[in-house]
Amino acid sequence: MLDPVKVGILGLGTVGGGTVHVLQHNAQEISRRAGRDIVISHACAKVLNKSLPYSTDNILLTEQLSDVVNNPDIDIIVELLGGTTIAREMTLQAIAQGKHVVTANKALIATHGNEIFTAAQNKGVTVAFEAAVCGGMPIIKAIREGMSANKIEWIAGIINGTSNFILTEMREKGSDFAKVLAEAQSLGYAEKDPTFDIEGIDAAHKVTILGAIAFGIPLQFDKVYKEGITQITAEDIQYADELGYKIKHIGLTKRTQKGIELRVHPTLIPNAQLLAKVEGVMNAVMVESDALGQSLYYGAGAGALPTASSIVADLIDVTRTLTTDPGNRVPHLAFQANALVDLPIVPIEEIETAYYLRLSVLDKLGILAQVTNILSAHDISIEAIIQKEPIDGSKHVSVVMLTHKVLEKQMIQAIQEIEILEGLIGSPTRIRLERCA
Ligand code: HSE
Repeated sequence: MLDPVKVGILGLGTVGGGTVHVLQHNAQEISRRAGRDIVISHACAKVLNKSLPYSTDNILLTEQLSDVVNNPDIDIIVELLGGTTIAREMTLQAIAQGKHVVTANKALIATHGNEIFTAAQNKGVTVAFEAAVCGGMPIIKAIREGMSANKIEWIAGIINGTSNFILTEMREKGSDFAKVLAEAQSLGYAEKDPTFDIEGIDAAHKVTILGAIAFGIPLQFDKVYKEGITQITAEDIQYADELGYKIKHIGLTKRTQKGIELRVHPTLIPNAQLLAKVEGVMNAVMVESDALGQSLYYGAGAGALPTASSIVADLIDVTRTLTTDPGNRVPHLAFQANALVDLPIVPIEEIETAYYLRLSVLDKLGILAQVTNILSAHDISIEAIIQKEPIDGSKHVSVVMLTHKVLEKQMIQAIQEIEILEGLIGSPTRIRLERCA
């Protein structure tokens, strides 16, 4: 058998620990698959004196990143530092030294991936990133390799487990956003600073990567339309339910006549759709492609062992390619680097989608007629409408509507006119609706 492949790991937190555990626990199966042993020879971690739930006996521990990245005996670097500054520097430094890199860092790939992949290609090394999108779900491999015969039309996914957990709890318990977020934080499902998850940034990183590998376009995080779940109320979740829909936070990328859509936002999904049945912290991604049709991928999008599952699979893939011609490896972004095309990214005002609208209006003759007149003047056709009785002697009522598909800019104009109607209380709530069919 060939000599073991030596791996240096940057960051021994939850995911790093999971990676050490999986490599040790499944060592035999892994070397049967890879054709040689894969061992972690070095690890960089800030706090070295804490007791770790796995053996570090054969791992040289250091607090200096450069001890690992510059070590000539190491073949592959696993980057688990998080963030984009030091992680970018270390990744580029490792590549410059001819090392392969495996990373779980979606922010790094989404924002600096173009630069990193160019550097890797010039050096003939691989940067593998399965764990960056949906943790343990092998969605990169499924799309990049399993579906390489297909023309992909769209991808829609529940790609942020924290948001999905919060929306699931809000629906099941009728609780409001702030209460469920606090619970999620106390259970460790949401971070102390939950901004990336609840504002759609984490999902936008992932959709950037999915769009690139689906359509052969460069990574363009700055062009993703992002909306999180902070404005979703228990009331909207309940009304959507009455109309036969779930509200999910969806990452969507789609090929259209105008270019490629890249967007993440709360979305009403019909209850009958498989994506609507994905609850709690689980992730799922649905892909529509011409030869295969619709396919759905479901699994754990986070956690030590699921994420380690993807990292170790990448280590095995890289190990298998160590002796192959770099020009014939699977391209980083699924398409050959010289075949990427800079298709336009569709601005959000130009997308076409259906909508859920909720208005709070004075219970007075004629207001609803004015609202429907404005919608009709903007070619917005109503598919369903419900009006709720006033609660506890209140003088206002909630009116909930579903519309057919319309250009977003027409909906924006209509809402601007509805907003200034006398008798309207507050601003209308608007949530996009996708049938994913
Ligand atoms: N914070 C992410 C989520 C997991 O909630 O899905 C890592 O991307």
